[in-house]
Amino acid sequence: MSRFTGKTALVTGAASGIGSALATALVAEGANVVGLDIDEPGLGKKVAELGDAFVPVVADVTVEAQIEAGIATAADRFGGLDAAFNVAGGSRIGAITDLTEADWDFTVDLVQKSVFLCTKHEARLMRDSGGGAIVNISSLDGRIPMPGGSPYATGKAGVVMFGKNAALELAQYGIRVNSVLPGLVDTPLVAAVMGYEPAKQMFLERIPLGAAASAEQIAGPCLFLASSEASYITGTELVVDGGWEISNFPNLAKLAG
Ligand SMILES: NC(=O)c1ccc[n+]([C@@H]2O[C@H](COP(=O)([O-])OP(=O)(O)OC[C@H]3O[C@@H](n4cnc5c(N)ncnc54)[C@H](O)[C@@H]3O)[C@@H](O)[C@H]2O)c1
Repeated sequence: MSRFTGKTALVTGAASGIGSALATALVAEGANVVGLDIDEPGLGKKVAELGDAFVPVVADVTVEAQIEAGIATAADRFGGLDAAFNVAGGSRIGAITDLTEADWDFTVDLVQKSVFLCTKHEARLMRDSGGGAIVNISSLDGRIPMPGGSPYATGKAGVVMFGKNAALELAQYGIRVNSVLPGLVDTPLVAAVMGYEPAKQMFLERIPLGAAASAEQIAGPCLFLASSEASYITGTELVVDGGWEISNFPNLAKLAG
């Protein structure tokens, strides 16, 4: 498919995991991609993989001036912005009784404030170039609590509500905003879980489709939401979790048998 031929896309967190898969998929579908990340060597690997269609920008998504400068790259190099994927994330974990204010701020700034700041500057550019689509990566943890991960889950829930507000405010400019909520995705972010078999099994037991998603399995739904196929979809949230969210009830069919 070439749904993004001649389009310009911006991806935060483009050096690894879901953002990296998105950048690869976008270029394969004809887009020019501006990739923001703090990981300079990781961005260098994407340039080696994707060539001139991928423009790397070293930027911290929690710092507004760096985001603004990074997004301006899309205007300078390609004349505008059609699609943006706010993906960069990470977290500090710990019990509420132990977490520090700095732990809280680090995580909520990274997963939530960054989405506000990026959306602000992406939307300004899209407004000036006739519209566009923004996809924010939340998490299943934005809908179900994660003991030990309260700042992350709280921040990710905020991403969904922020996306709905942004969808309402930005519709007048032809800008759509949607959230994607992945379950478990096999990326470096969850290497500790995927690399330790007992922990991995604890997660997989809860996932009806029986596996973690690949980064590409999250990139696909994100691309759909940003494409013209989703031109009437805004303000919604798409859970991509292999059935994890709905799998909490015991299977009564096993009793009946
Ligand atoms: N992996 C999962 O199971 C999972 C599940 C649900 C949601 N998510 C979300 O998906 C998104 C991508 O995660 P991933 O699994 O691909 O992780 P990842 O660690 O592979 O990639 C995250 C990227 O974000 C970048 N990044 C981190 N802090 C940054 C900052 N301050 N400024 C700019 N870039 C920064 C990292 O350098 C990295 O390249 C995150 O928002 C994460 O919360 C992941």
